[in-house]
Parts: sequence; structure tokens; C-alpha cells
Amino acid sequence: MASKEAYIHMMFSSIVGNYDFVNNLLSFNRDKYWRKFAVSKIEPEAGEQVLDVATGTGALALELARKIGKEGKVVGVDFSREMLGRARGKLAKKGCCNIELICAKAEVLPFPDGTFDYVSVGFALRNMTEMGQTLQEMTRVLKLGGKMICLEFSQPRHKIFRRIYYFYIFHILPFLGHAISRNKEAYTYLPKSIAEFYSPFELKQIMEKVGLENIVAYPLTLGIVTTYVAVKKATSNPKRSKKEGWNEIKSMVS
Ligand SMILES: C[S@@+](CC[C@H](N)C(=O)[O-])C[C@H]1O[C@@H](n2cnc3c(N)ncnc32)[C@H](O)[C@@H]1O
Repeated sequence: MASKEAYIHMMFSSIVGNYDFVNNLLSFNRDKYWRKFAVSKIEPEAGEQVLDVATGTGALALELARKIGKEGKVVGVDFSREMLGRARGKLAKKGCCNIELICAKAEVLPFPDGTFDYVSVGFALRNMTEMGQTLQEMTRVLKLGGKMICLEFSQPRHKIFRRIYYFYIFHILPFLGHAISRNKEAYTYLPKSIAEFYSPFELKQIMEKVGLENIVAYPLTLGIVTTYVAVKKATSNPKRSKKEGWNEIKSMVS
């Protein structure tokens, strides 16, 4: 576990320089639309707070900050100081003052129970060593009735389209990613992590298990990406021990 975490940390910290550019290019600029769609699923009221987990260079956090307005606040958390450094630069350039960035692990969020009105995570669950624990932590810091927004790659269901897409992500994307970022490993890891990730059905089951309900999955761009919107159950027990909750989830997904 620790070595996977160190590997992921090192990988993201080493691709910061071109991260946004490569994302826009390899997704044919669709990544911006995917984030906008996810953010459209929140209806913030004045003064509300959002937590963006694994915020990276702050792309999703910036969209959220626009939506939530000056009276609200977005807190972005990531374990890579390099990613956060890039995010800080972007926020300063845009004169964005309603985002706070904190260096922390998604599996152990440094906030009290029920702090946030919304929590979000974009393109990061796949990389988590302890994904169930991360979802559990995100639920814990969410207010009762608060909303969780997850944006993640998924496997397209249409067989022919899936073949074309897999050819692109396994053969073309690593080549382009390497040519631009000079980092072969990161763009070889990406397709593998996408193909091996849970299906929307499985992910919804895990989300239910951590205390979320009314979970709706919105497939985007023929199912390449899915946005999940879920609500924290009024009966969720955020105080149950982390170990207890995580063991239940582990036995369910293994
Ligand atoms: C693919 S990027 C996504 C960034 C951003 N959410 C976006 O939409 O572009 C994944 C991010 O997750 C962060 N990350 C991965 N595992 C993490 C963990 N266990 N705790 C905190 N951050 C983590 C990485 O440092 C990286 O910045």
C-alpha cells in the first residue's frame, strides 16, 4: 500500500509542468466540459463551503469557486506539494480569493465531521490506495444531506466504441503523453488504471456502503467519463470508527 501511494505521489509530482496542457490535448478539450457538467450539479446558497479532494492543479476547484461565488469558500486538498504549487500560481493569476489549498492525504482529511455542504473529487479515486476509506472520509466531513460529486473515468458500454477508445488510450495516448511530457510511465499507467477501475454499478454500491443515498450516475461522452452525484444519508453515522467502516467495504469489494 505504502509503495503504491509513494509511486502515485511521485508520478503526479513529476508531471505537474504539462499536466493541464496534456489533459486538454489528450481529451480533445472535453475535460473542461466534464468538470463544468459536474459543477452544474451543485446549487450553492450564499456562504456555503465545498471541499475538493485531490484538487491537483485546481481545475475543478476553480470551476467550483466560480459557481459558489465570493461569499462561499472552496477548500482544495492534495498530497502533492508540487501540484498545489501549480494550483496556487493559477489562483493568483486569476485573482481568485475564495479558494484555500491544504496539503493532506485524502484518506485522512484534517476536518471535523459535517464541515462541508459539498465535497467533490475529480479523476482521482482511481489513484487512491485506499479508495473506500477516501469515500468514507469524504462522507464524514460532509454535512447531513450534503452532496458528493465524483467525476471519474469509466468504461464505455458500446462494444465497438470501447474497442476504438481502448486502442486510443492504450496505443496513441501513451505515445503522445510521452512525447509531450517526457514521462512515459504516467501515460502508460493512465489507460491501465481506467480499464481496471470499478464500473459505475460497482462504484454506486461502494458509495451506498459508506452512507450515501440517491446516487445518480451521469455517463458523459459515450461513457468515457461518469459524474456521480450522491447525498449523505440523514442517518449516516459519521462517528463510527474508520477501521470498522473500511473493513466492511473491503469485504464487499474484494
Ligand atoms: C488526475 S489528478 C486530478 C486533479 C484534479 N482533480 C483534476 O480534476 O484535474 C489526481 C490528483 O490526485 C492526487 N492524489 C492522488 N492520491 C491522493 C491521496 N491519497 N491523497 C491526496 N491526493 C491524492 C494527486 O496528487 C493528483 O494531484
